[in-house]
Amino acid sequence: MGQIVLKQEGAIAVLSVDRPEALNALSRELVDEMDLLVERVRKDPEIRCLILHSEKNFAAGADIKDMADCDEEAAKAFVFSPTYDKIEELPIPVIAAIEGYALGGGMELAMTADIRIAEKSAKMGFPEVTLGIMPGAGGTIRVPRVTGEAAAKELIFTGDIISAEKAAAIGLVNRISEDGEVLRDAMKLAEKLCRRGPIALAAAKRTIRAGQEEPDWKRGIQIEAENWAKLFNTEDQKEGMKAFLEKRKPEFQNR
Ligand code: HXC
Repeated sequence: MGQIVLKQEGAIAVLSVDRPEALNALSRELVDEMDLLVERVRKDPEIRCLILHSEKNFAAGADIKDMADCDEEAAKAFVFSPTYDKIEELPIPVIAAIEGYALGGGMELAMTADIRIAEKSAKMGFPEVTLGIMPGAGGTIRVPRVTGEAAAKELIFTGDIISAEKAAAIGLVNRISEDGEVLRDAMKLAEKLCRRGPIALAAAKRTIRAGQEEPDWKRGIQIEAENWAKLFNTEDQKEGMKAFLEKRKPEFQNR
């Protein structure tokens, strides 16, 4: 216990792995703890943005010691996806701020975020095939959605560990920060997102996801129109537009 920490600064929560001796590798126990903290974030209406960030190394993957002796049944039980899906489904923006290594199940954790920022010297990849396995916590699904299929296949088939620059070039990360500044940059972005209409942000997040899952393009546009119109039931929409007309900054109440 105690290898994962949730800190809160105003409306921003920061979830961090604290297992430096193993480069923040994710043990099964640690992910169970993470699940409880994610639940806490989900139920806290004060939290408007979540940052995933760990000191020195984002996470060097799932703990190989935990998996080494698994058979098929044990591997089936060794799942991170319910927790990772919970993060992706949070109704608030999630930012991954990546320092050092983000590998395998660690990078798959970063893929649950809406926006990824990596520091210049960060190293990312999916080395599972070098261990005789493949990504098992959403990597084969989320990576191609973000980078396109060809780049995802190159990354997952080679197991290469790539630089932040290469990751940005294939869209795996949104931006690069100077070394030592990634958390600061993520906080700045989070502060900006906290000033936006939270109900509108949640609706946009939900609608983008629904659009990706909806094979019928026209149905996707229809879902968007429905979700867009619903926002006119909110006080935040009234406030946002009133503030514009009165030439002042809006004060959104999450209502
Ligand atoms: C367990 C790990 C670990 C991991 C590092 N360590 N990664 N332990 N699981 N994933 C431990 C090392 O054993 C070592 O412990 C200590 O952390 C420091 O690591 P070193 O290897 O000595 O550091 P370095 O030489 O700098 O190399 C860094 C590294 C390397 C390139 C990141 O550690 C590495 O290749 N790690 C494994 C990366 C990986 O394959 N990840 C994917 C895992 S599979 P000791 O006790 O020796 O000091 C996966 C599947 C997800 O994630 C599926 C989810 C369901």
